[in-house]
Amino acid sequence: MGEAILLVGGQGTRLRPLTLSTPKPMLPVAGLPVTVHQILRARDAGVTRVVLGTSYRAEVFAEQLGDGRDLGVEIAYAVEAEPLGTGGAIRNAADLLTCAPHDPVMVLNGDVLSGIDYGALVAGHAASGAALTLHLTRVDDPTAYGLVPTDGDDRVLAFREKPQTPEEIVTDQINAGCYVFTRSVIDQIPGGRPVSVERETFPELLDRGLLVRGVVDDAYWLDLGTPWDFVRGSADLVRGIAPWSGHEPAPYLLLPGAQVSEQAVLGQGTTVGRGACVHGDAVVEGSVLMDGSVVEAGACVIDSVIGQRARIEAGATIVGAVIGDDAVIGAGNELRHGARVWPGVTLPPTSVRFSSDA
Ligand code: GTP
Repeated sequence: MGEAILLVGGQGTRLRPLTLSTPKPMLPVAGLPVTVHQILRARDAGVTRVVLGTSYRAEVFAEQLGDGRDLGVEIAYAVEAEPLGTGGAIRNAADLLTCAPHDPVMVLNGDVLSGIDYGALVAGHAASGAALTLHLTRVDDPTAYGLVPTDGDDRVLAFREKPQTPEEIVTDQINAGCYVFTRSVIDQIPGGRPVSVERETFPELLDRGLLVRGVVDDAYWLDLGTPWDFVRGSADLVRGIAPWSGHEPAPYLLLPGAQVSEQAVLGQGTTVGRGACVHGDAVVEGSVLMDGSVVEAGACVIDSVIGQRARIEAGATIVGAVIGDDAVIGAGNELRHGARVWPGVTLPPTSVRFSSDA
C-alpha cells in the first residue's frame, strides 16, 4: 500500500491540561502513544512510509519516534510553522511523499482508535478509480457531527454541516477521520495557507463532479478528543474491546516498574504507568495513571487521568476528572465529573484536624 500521512498538529484544547506538555497524539493510551498504535496498525496493513504532519509541539514527535525504525516504518516530518488546518497539513505533507500521482495515500487523523481494515479501504479505493474514499462510521446521536450521506453504490452525495433541526438529520453516517486520496488530488490542494478538508476540499471535489466514495464500516471507532473518551479508549485497548494486535485482553495493565499493593483493587481496563505506585487498599478503575504517579491507601480513582508524577493522597476520591502532571490532591478531597486540576497545583487536605492542646 505504501505511504500514509498522519495529521498530528492540533492543539488538543479539549484535553487540556494533559496537552499543555504533550501533544494529544503522543498521550499514552494503554501505555503507548495514540500515534504509535496507529502506525503499528498501518504497518501491519502494508504501510512502509509515514509522513507526520506536525505543528503544535512538533519537536516531541521526532524526539520520541525518530526515523521510525523501531516501529518498522520510515517516518518523515512535515512541520508547519503556523498551523495549516487539516487540508493545509495534508498538502504540506505531500511534499515529502515519494509515490506517483495515481497512487493511493492513506490519511489518518491522529486522535482516532479504529478497527477499520486499512488494506481493504485502500484496495477498494484503487479499484474504484475514485478521487477520494472516506471511512464513515455510524453514531447514535449525529447532531454533534457533520453528516455524510451516500447512495447504494457508496457514492458520497453531500457533506452536510452539523444538523440544526430534526429534518436536517438525513443520515447517521459521519466522517471517521480516515481517508484515502489519489495522490494527484492532494497536490491540487492550495499550498501555503490554512485549508479545512472537511469544509473546503471535500465539498469542492463533489462540485467538480469527481467520484468521492464513503465506505460505512461498523468496526470499533473512537475519537479520543475529550478526557472521557480518552480514558475509555485506553481501557478499551487494555480489555481487548479496541483492536491491538498481539495484546491479550486483561482487566488492567501494569507497565514496567509499576508497583501495586496486594490489597489494592484494579480493574475496568486501568493502566498503571512506568514507576507509578498504587498503595494499600486504593481502588483504581477505568483510569490512566501516568508514569511516576502515586495513589495512596484508601484513595479511589475512577474513569480519570492522573498526570505524570501527580499524587492522590489517602482517602481522596477522583471520579471522571483530569489531574495534571505533578499536581497533589490532598487527603480527603473529592473531585468529580469534569473536574480538571492544572499541572503542579496542590489541593490541601480537606479533613479538619484539631490539635489536642487547642
Ligand atoms: P481540539 O483542540 O480539542 O479540538 O483538538 P485538535 O486540535 O486535535 O483538533 P481536531 O480534533 O479537530 O483535529 C483533528 C486531527 O487533525 C487531529 O489529529 C489534529 O492533530 C489534526 N490537526 C488539526 N489541525 C491541524 C493543523 O493545523 N495542522 C496539523 N498538522 N494537524 C492538525
